[in-house]
Amino acid sequence: MSAAINPGLFGALKPQAPDALLSLIGLYRADPRPDKLDLGVGVYRDLGGATPVLRAVKAAETRLLSEQTTKAYLGPEGDLGFLDLLKPIIFGDAGRAGVFGVQTPGGTGALRLGAELIAAARPGARIFMGTPTWPNHPQIFDITGLETIAYPYFDSRAQAIRFDRMMDTLAGAEPGDALLLQACCNNPSGADPSMDQWRAIADLVAARGLTPLIDLAYQGLGAGLEQDAAGMRLVLEAAPDALLAYSCDKNFGLYRERVGALFALSDNIARLALAASNIKALARANWSMPPDHGAAVVRVILESADLTADWKAELEAMRLRIVVIRQALAAAAPSLNALQGQHGLFAQLPLVPAQVAAMRERHGVYMAGSGRINLAGLTPATIPTFAQAYAACLEEEFA
Ligand code: LMR
Repeated sequence: MSAAINPGLFGALKPQAPDALLSLIGLYRADPRPDKLDLGVGVYRDLGGATPVLRAVKAAETRLLSEQTTKAYLGPEGDLGFLDLLKPIIFGDAGRAGVFGVQTPGGTGALRLGAELIAAARPGARIFMGTPTWPNHPQIFDITGLETIAYPYFDSRAQAIRFDRMMDTLAGAEPGDALLLQACCNNPSGADPSMDQWRAIADLVAARGLTPLIDLAYQGLGAGLEQDAAGMRLVLEAAPDALLAYSCDKNFGLYRERVGALFALSDNIARLALAASNIKALARANWSMPPDHGAAVVRVILESADLTADWKAELEAMRLRIVVIRQALAAAAPSLNALQGQHGLFAQLPLVPAQVAAMRERHGVYMAGSGRINLAGLTPATIPTFAQAYAACLEEEFA
């Protein structure tokens, strides 16, 4: 009898390129130049370049450490107090009926769960997605078997939303198609729709019978907590069923704790119950039950009027620091003027890959390959260095 030959499993896998954005972290660390600038991964940084733990978070953690009595499981939805306390912040006072939420590992976990729910309801469903968008969006939708359809969103040369072209493309969407929309602080462009544009998008969602999947990952870092949610609320009201993926990673500075939530909204209680049972089953098969700590921190903050006030003050200080950087960039270079009308951590500069490489290699400026910069990586003191490097790259000829 000949011995069976086991060829092993892994040889059948296709090699995957390392994530380009996350690879920048290692490249930046290895660069010995003292005046290098990290404008890569989207984390808030203060004037000293640190991403500090918020005061309100530290205080909540101190309370948790002394008062928490058990580490027993919470159940598939996660921390119910966390979910309930987030609802008025996200949906406003009017929108609280007909909402089901589950806690997820970060906004990515919420997007993944939302995509899986869409795929479970409509296998092979189409989802319309802006171009450019966060590079993880298409990866998440591809892996869950959704068909992604691009709609034009931002023109980096004009520094403007391609609104007419976006609406023309979306006019071709069919009833039942899903529509991904970033609520605020668009990643990568920083360009958010005006309220008039949000109204037009909401009308289109209603007219075409689309299912919105809203990605709200930076609430409070754009125009303010309420303002950042106002536009997308119109879209949620325009659809009978909708999904919203939320992240607390940036607005509570809890990045590595991976704090997110998926909310399903429906105008029909029976359909909402169906969504809830499916979301819980999908969550169970993904991570069984979510990690506790970060969501518990958010709950403790939102349960306390004092800690909530302190968190809001810290969030507003972060927001204003980014506004100041936007204004200083606009003043430093006419080509950066449009940035003061945009919101959040990011701006998408009209640079080709060779220019992005030159920014890194010649000037020590690290940014995403797409030309996206994280404005919180700049300070008033480093803006002249950045503006000079940018002007030099714009002037040079690149193939
Ligand atoms: C970013 O876009 O930089 C952040 O959302 C971090 C990430 O996970 O990509």
